[in-house]
Amino acid sequence: MTLQRPAAEILERLGDLRAADAPTHGGRVLSYVYDSGIAELDELAAEAARMVQPVNGLDPTTFSSVAVMEREVLGFAKKVLHGDDDVVGTVTSGGTESCLLAVKTARDYWRKSNSGKPRLLAPTTAHAAFQKAAHYFDLELDMVPVDPEGAVRAADLESKMGPDVALVVVSAPCYPFASLDPITEVAAAASAKGISCHVDACIGGWVLPWLETGPWDFAVSGVTSVSADLHKFGYSPKGASVLLQRDRDRQRSQFFATTNWPGYPVVNSTMLGSKGAGPLAASWAIIQALGERGYSKLAASCASSTDALHRVIDGIEGLRVVGRPVGPLLSVAMDSTVPDDRRVDPHHWADAVRTRGFLLQLQPAIIQSNGVRLPRTTHLTITPVTESVLDELSGALESAAEEVRGVAPIDGGQVLAALPIDLTSMPAGAHLDSATALQLLGGIGLGSGGGALPEKMAPLIALIEALPHELSERLLTELLARLSEPVDLPAQ
Ligand SMILES: Cc1ncc(COP(=O)(O)O)c(C=O)c1O
Repeated sequence: MTLQRPAAEILERLGDLRAADAPTHGGRVLSYVYDSGIAELDELAAEAARMVQPVNGLDPTTFSSVAVMEREVLGFAKKVLHGDDDVVGTVTSGGTESCLLAVKTARDYWRKSNSGKPRLLAPTTAHAAFQKAAHYFDLELDMVPVDPEGAVRAADLESKMGPDVALVVVSAPCYPFASLDPITEVAAAASAKGISCHVDACIGGWVLPWLETGPWDFAVSGVTSVSADLHKFGYSPKGASVLLQRDRDRQRSQFFATTNWPGYPVVNSTMLGSKGAGPLAASWAIIQALGERGYSKLAASCASSTDALHRVIDGIEGLRVVGRPVGPLLSVAMDSTVPDDRRVDPHHWADAVRTRGFLLQLQPAIIQSNGVRLPRTTHLTITPVTESVLDELSGALESAAEEVRGVAPIDGGQVLAALPIDLTSMPAGAHLDSATALQLLGGIGLGSGGGALPEKMAPLIALIEALPHELSERLLTELLARLSEPVDLPAQ
């Protein structure tokens, strides 16, 4: 059969599309991507993924390569994360799926001896994936406030551990502030009450094992599950994470199985049915190529770049690093101890850094249930390749701060007041149809422009801070949904 369109033409267009993406390599994007800086590793991953391209990961009995690779990846992860013979696991499609499955497992395990609606206990800083899990799996979400530096007190979690708690979540470290939760204390308290304890090491799981921290993984006896993303500091292409669980009987609650339909018997360890084996094969290849020694070297590079950037930020008047970051992440807030005209708003700063060719991630301020406010911050994830741009990046961080020092933070209330439409009059919980939501987006200058981010993100985040969560969530949903409106392919 002749192709309707030549392959070269199709790929050329893809090349053009890719050229418009944020750069995935070279250390210019300090979130989302984890570049080892080793081109050979990317080639190996691509080749491994290509070799299993037609395989269906749904059925490791038919495609036995899937079972072999999964067992070996899990064996490596179990060793690195100090699991004993009781620890088993699954390779999932990413951090969110690992977190979802940790919650589903704990819920179903809890239901074996309890009834009613279970509660999910987590610090405010736990990843949003746990909010999603509580929503999908119908648990009551009990978010425990942290202090303004992102630290949660073990006693605050412990005091809420009642019989209805199916799972307590702690992070190693948490994404917004890079704090390492008090895992030993929380896991001990949970274990004493027979409550499952999940350590979310999605971001830290493949880097903290080679850095100096206290025990946080299966070396802590009350920890019942750990998630660790291969597609973050495991340097695998997107689509791979491990979820390890202690106790085979407990872990079986993760599975879904049915023989009660007229088709093939369904047994799924993860959320999907048919699935690709590419990310698994790529991860399997990468962990062998790097080994513990390779990971250790890459972790050392991340740690040294993080220390260097921490020192650079400490030296910038008007900014400060929040809390006590553990691992290659930094969260940067305004230093309110200096006079107003010397302060640097972290979001103006991030926008100014962007014009210098580096993309940092803006995080909104939030007010917790106890009224304690967590500051507006800018997030940096540091990867091995950061080392190669350290001087340029440091210069950009410093000169951007010079540029915006003394510029008043955007007041979300004023942004709201200046809008051509009155968003404040929207009744809380009002149902917005998609046409109205689009109209509102248009009124605030969003919803068009082919999906590119606005040049400055600070006003958008200030707006998110000022709007009720329900409304900002609805508007952002509309924004994203409009990006995938069906369109025709380009004419031949
Ligand atoms: C601590 C933590 N948990 C979970 C996730 C979710 O991972 P993913 O984006 O792979 O679904 C992340 C992502 O950054 C994370 O940092």
